[in-house]
Amino acid sequence: MRYGIISDIHGNLEALEVVLNECRKLKIGSLLCAGDIVGYGANPKECLDIVRKLKAVIVAGNHDWAISGRLDASYFTEDGKAAIMWTRTRIALEDIAYMNDLPLCLKNKDCILVHGTLNDPSHFIYLTDISKAAATFALMDSPVCFVGHTHVPMVLIERGGNIYKHEGTELEIRPECKYIINPGSIGQPRDGNPLASFGVYDTQMQTIEIRRVLYDVQKAQRKIIEAGLPKPLALRLAQGE
Ligand SMILES: [Fe+2]
Repeated sequence: MRYGIISDIHGNLEALEVVLNECRKLKIGSLLCAGDIVGYGANPKECLDIVRKLKAVIVAGNHDWAISGRLDASYFTEDGKAAIMWTRTRIALEDIAYMNDLPLCLKNKDCILVHGTLNDPSHFIYLTDISKAAATFALMDSPVCFVGHTHVPMVLIERGGNIYKHEGTELEIRPECKYIINPGSIGQPRDGNPLASFGVYDTQMQTIEIRRVLYDVQKAQRKIIEAGLPKPLALRLAQGE
């Protein structure tokens, strides 16, 4: 099986379409979505419809849960709150119910999927570095766990009780190791690189790769501004921050 790992789409249709096109070329058999389909971007409904139609396996992100009120808006920045209020007016009640019911964690025979961390997933902790990873590694009963939330691609490896960061975008899975992988964000990257980011997990080859793809940032920015969403949400897309 070749999985496409997508996360933090955030209503950015331009970025999502380009990534899905790449996934088709790469012959991805199944999509795993680590949450935050909506929020920030101008096309939440379109993005949600697409990932549902493609039968992606989806866990809840903080924005997805905030839409229904399942997560309190006080968790968010002012721009984040404004985006949540706006998004609620652009999606159907059925969509809100769907996101409200998204689970926090999912597991299949090949990996685990969670938006924040496996410890306390409902608090959406940012797994930003090695110091935050031990609790998730301890709870992993599968060698591979995909996370999202930080919008920064990252690969952490645990081997013999030691955790270290893997530099580089490609990795071979070894039986003596465990892996936490953040594929980065499709719709709002924050690692200083504006290109949309996603992951490819090939279970036959036992490889994982993080890929970047160029999309029409200006079009996504224009739509955010025309929608009346906070301007910084448009500006940051060009910086990847
Ligand atoms: Fe996010």
